[in-house]
Amino acid sequence: MKRIGILTAGGDAPGLNAAIRAAVRSAISVHGLEVLGFRNGWAGVIEGETIPLTPVSVQGILHRGGTILGSSGTDPYHSGGIGAVRRTLIDLGLDGLITIGGEGTMTAAAHLAEEGLPLVGVPKTIDNDLSGTDACIGFATAVQVATDAIDRLHTTAESHHRLMVVEVMGRSAGWIALAAGLAGGADAILIPERPFDPEQVAAGLRRRHLRGHSFSIVVVAEGAAPVEGTLEPPTYPTDDRGFPRLGGIANAIAPRLAELTGFETRVTVLGHVQRGGTPLAEDRIVATRLGRAAVDLIVAGGFGQMVALRGGEITSVPLADAAKVRPVPEDLFAVAEVFFE
Ligand code: F6P
Repeated sequence: MKRIGILTAGGDAPGLNAAIRAAVRSAISVHGLEVLGFRNGWAGVIEGETIPLTPVSVQGILHRGGTILGSSGTDPYHSGGIGAVRRTLIDLGLDGLITIGGEGTMTAAAHLAEEGLPLVGVPKTIDNDLSGTDACIGFATAVQVATDAIDRLHTTAESHHRLMVVEVMGRSAGWIALAAGLAGGADAILIPERPFDPEQVAAGLRRRHLRGHSFSIVVVAEGAAPVEGTLEPPTYPTDDRGFPRLGGIANAIAPRLAELTGFETRVTVLGHVQRGGTPLAEDRIVATRLGRAAVDLIVAGGFGQMVALRGGEITSVPLADAAKVRPVPEDLFAVAEVFFE
């Protein structure tokens, strides 16, 4: 093995640069490889747009959010780019490709690996919903951003005796809502795994206020959905692949909760602020370990696998298994639920 490529695809996440840096430095100094970075995810592979990555090019990026390579939602499998990916790897003499991404990236990588391409995945998504790994790059930082926001909303909710509805990201799983809700002392947490009934949520909040509390915080994941027939969900615009562009469910929930409780209610949608900015130490460490592990795995010929962290140890999981959504487990939700009453 002489030369490998690396890309970051899908939504950015804090810690991507730490993973790139670790992969580049280990590839060069531990394994004596050359490394090419692809621009803007799979789009750069399809178009053959690369930059050489050296120890100098990854200097000073450990603490920076975003990705020096750029990213995009281009999916080579669905946009008919498999042939182009294969050609680029051959033309550039690449013996392996590290794909850092979330569910969409791992799904595409799994298909390409089945076609015989030498791919290894690295888990990245603030949603934390890839299977087979306890950690995904970016999650820890996103949870801290959301927790900080909830802390700030707490003091203003308290001052004005308001109900605050805070919307966080989490398309298919409610990991950020659950974790930030636990850390921030949420009085209700609504996640995609458990359709909610606004009447039940309102009843819980009313009981809390009857016990003497004068404010409440509801944390809702963007992918949360009402029990059918209880609330009209928003109509989401779709992206160029037909997937709904989520965001705004809190704006549908808040007026209904205000109506049912009589509490003055405000909405905060955190959105992409959760994906930006400086990664926490935890994400830098996770990203560094996974970046190094990906290079070791690719050199060992472990194609078709995603590196993972389980029980604090580095391991790996087949790409197709990793791409399945990992829901928030019932027992973890039960820990938070105690505080809803
Ligand atoms: O998967 C990460 C994520 O942040 C989701 O939580 C969110 O629905 C989506 O990406 C937003 O993507 P975009 O940046 O394309 O709007």
